[in-house]
Amino acid sequence: VLPPSVEQIAEGMRRSPDALAVLYTSPTYEGLTADTRGIVDAVHSVSDAAMVIVDEAWGGHLHFHPALPDSAMASGADVCVQSTHKLAGGLQQTGLLHWREGRVDSELMEEAYREYVTTSPSYHLLASADAAVRTLAAQGEEALGRAIERTDALKAGLRAALPCGSSRCARTRPAATSSRRRSA
Ligand SMILES: Cc1ncc(COP(=O)(O)O)c(C=O)c1O
Repeated sequence: VLPPSVEQIAEGMRRSPDALAVLYTSPTYEGLTADTRGIVDAVHSVSDAAMVIVDEAWGGHLHFHPALPDSAMASGADVCVQSTHKLAGGLQQTGLLHWREGRVDSELMEEAYREYVTTSPSYHLLASADAAVRTLAAQGEEALGRAIERTDALKAGLRAALPCGSSRCARTRPAATSSRRRSA
């Protein structure tokens, strides 16, 4: 599944200029990221009030290595959710919600949040989310760098081993590993 393009979002905004929010998933499960910076510009050029909300469930690690695509918040999104338990080392149910103060009313957000969550949070899970973020901040670049190197080596090995001699194969070969659309 591909993430939405800037053109698709711009077309949606032209059709629905009163939209209150644009919500999409990036990265996709397959690791492809949208051009959130371009999407934010496209949305806000039509309506400054419209919120750009990104489901970044698979992107909790993006902020922590410069070779990875920029995270949604670094790209100007108004709100994003991340599943820390997917690629960022937290225990299950340690999702994080980020929002941009000034664009989003923090009191309203917290009130809305409390509508949906327990009043007895698990301190184990809060500690796990905290530990995951602290670990990524302290060692994330090194650990992710190793993971990227291994992934690149695996990809190169697979390409070399696959029977890919035909011209059709050469045309459909994926882009170089430095592609900005790679997230993991
Ligand atoms: C794109 C996407 N968004 C959201 C979720 C749900 O996230 P959580 O596990 O934090 O409820 C998933 C879970 O697989 C997902 O793939």
